[in-house]
Amino acid sequence: MKKLIAGNWKMNLTAAESLSLAKQLSEVKLPNNLEVAVLPSFAALSFVQTMLGPESDIKLGAQDCFWEAKGAYTGEVSPVQLKELGCQYVLIGHSERRLNLGETDEMVNRKIAAAQKAGLVPVLCVGETDEDRRLGRWASKLNSQVVNGLKGIEVVGTHEIIIAYEPIWAIGTGRPCEPKVASEAHALIKNALLEVFSASRAKNHFRIIYGGSVDGSNIATYLAEDGIDGALVGGASQKFLSFSALLEATANIAGKQGK
Ligand code: PGA
Repeated sequence: MKKLIAGNWKMNLTAAESLSLAKQLSEVKLPNNLEVAVLPSFAALSFVQTMLGPESDIKLGAQDCFWEAKGAYTGEVSPVQLKELGCQYVLIGHSERRLNLGETDEMVNRKIAAAQKAGLVPVLCVGETDEDRRLGRWASKLNSQVVNGLKGIEVVGTHEIIIAYEPIWAIGTGRPCEPKVASEAHALIKNALLEVFSASRAKNHFRIIYGGSVDGSNIATYLAEDGIDGALVGGASQKFLSFSALLEATANIAGKQGK
């Protein structure tokens, strides 16, 4: 499976800024062996989609979705609406939503089911706090986020689910997680998947990516680790120079590995 680099633009760019960044990125030559996605805010999705066009090598994703396809849910955006806008991916359960908006594993689980039903690839975000690490409960926290988030979800046919391991203490802090520590967490997530899915389903339908202060200077160290299938990039994806430098660093590694 190809490595995935997804840029999470959060609520940091206006529609005009998103459009201009997407335009610059569309001029970068991307290697065939990498998948690149951008995740603008809802307000910018339509502009970015129109600019990139359906044939673009840069895929589109959203930062969240609701768990119903349609209805009286003022202010929410449904996965069906996102699919119509050309989204392929949708982040679900990002820690900023879990912390600021009280999103629970149960809500996350419903969103994953709805996203999958609409034909989107859910990107389930999991990760522990500093305190979870200090108190020695980080492994059980990750396990329960994965197991509860995916309870009752089926993966068949062409279904894919991506899990983004994002330790909260590494997000936006410039304090990235050691690649070995991230790799250990990825192994733990793989084991958690085996509690819910058969070994072949866990292997064939999932990719596990890392997120948290990833940039052009450290991306190579993550992708060199076993079991790290890409990166979810926040800050470094929001400016052309830093994102293109990161993509370039990634392309070099992917090229060297001949993948
Ligand atoms: P960061 O954000 O790269 O700025 O740490 C990552 C994320 O929140 O997805």
